[in-house]
Amino acid sequence: MKVLLTGAAGQLGQALIATKPPQVELIATSRCGGEGVLALDLADAAACRAAVQQHRPDGVLNAGAYTAVDRAESEPELAEAVNAGAPAAFAEALTATGGRLLQLSTDFVFDGAQGHPYAPEQQPSPLGVYGASKAAGEAAALQLPGARVLRTSWVYGPVGRNFCLTMLRLHRERVASGQPLAVVADQVGCPTSTHTLAAACWRAIGAGGPRILHWSDAGAASWYDFAVAIGELGVAAGLLERAARVVPIATADYPTTARRPSYSLLDCSGSRDGLGLEPMHWRAALIEVLTEVLTHAQRCNTPLSG
Ligand SMILES: NC(=O)c1ccc[n+]([C@@H]2O[C@H](COP(=O)([O-])OP(=O)(O)OC[C@H]3O[C@@H](n4cnc5c(N)ncnc54)[C@H](OP(=O)(O)O)[C@@H]3O)[C@@H](O)[C@H]2O)c1
Repeated sequence: MKVLLTGAAGQLGQALIATKPPQVELIATSRCGGEGVLALDLADAAACRAAVQQHRPDGVLNAGAYTAVDRAESEPELAEAVNAGAPAAFAEALTATGGRLLQLSTDFVFDGAQGHPYAPEQQPSPLGVYGASKAAGEAAALQLPGARVLRTSWVYGPVGRNFCLTMLRLHRERVASGQPLAVVADQVGCPTSTHTLAAACWRAIGAGGPRILHWSDAGAASWYDFAVAIGELGVAAGLLERAARVVPIATADYPTTARRPSYSLLDCSGSRDGLGLEPMHWRAALIEVLTEVLTHAQRCNTPLSG
């Protein structure tokens, strides 16, 4: 099976490359390209169509995205071009070539107001530009009969830009300065490791079944809970000497440009059964990621100060 991957330099893209099934022939692409990676600008719809026409993949795994949630509020055209224009272009080109499409999407397509987990068939109701552009990308992708949308939440892994790596740094800095770490406690969702997510993606692109899937790790957490666990488990893993004191705060005390859903848990039960994958609790997945962060730091000889 030939798969064209976008977002190869992103945190999910790197996990997908690392876990590629042997039967998959991968054409990896990223914005700038690099060793073994082709350059493909997702804001260029014509280039997206041309990539499909040239490589004629059996599937496109669209993991690339404009993911800067706050910046999207001031760059709506670019967010729309990347997050909705690219899947539309892939869907159009794949209609002609006969391939499948797996479109990654987000819990931020929901407004978080209902207070219980969102089912895959629920209508999106985004609060901001990023969520709206991803919802438009879902609709565009689903124009292709062989397309599936996989929504996920709070993605983090051992590489890239993510909450877990930021919190590890902040725990060290706050221990050194003696200051507490204030983290929002009234937004609830579920952290998802790039490892478990990559496994779900590889299953989802190769199989039939429902066209909209939900995938997160198991359980629920606030950002505060996640930050506390990163501190505790970071110490246990040998990444931190001590954890900083984490203080719960309200969203209102941490203003951001984009509004975020207060409760965006995804109901993943049907999708987990459909994909035949056992859920892992987010704390267990976090232990795995922290172990890998440590291994990576040791391999690269990065000092673990604090
Ligand atoms: N991160 C989360 O918490 C989260 C939550 C729910 C859903 N998701 C979804 O999961 C998927 C994977 O996200 P991720 O966490 O791996 O995000 P990520 O680490 O930010 O990776 C996204 C990649 O897309 C690339 N990209 C952005 N604009 C591009 C363009 N114009 N042309 C080509 N590439 C471009 C970025 O390249 P540069 O590095 O060059 O900018 C980046 O490498 C996305 O669809 C995202 O919407 C993410």
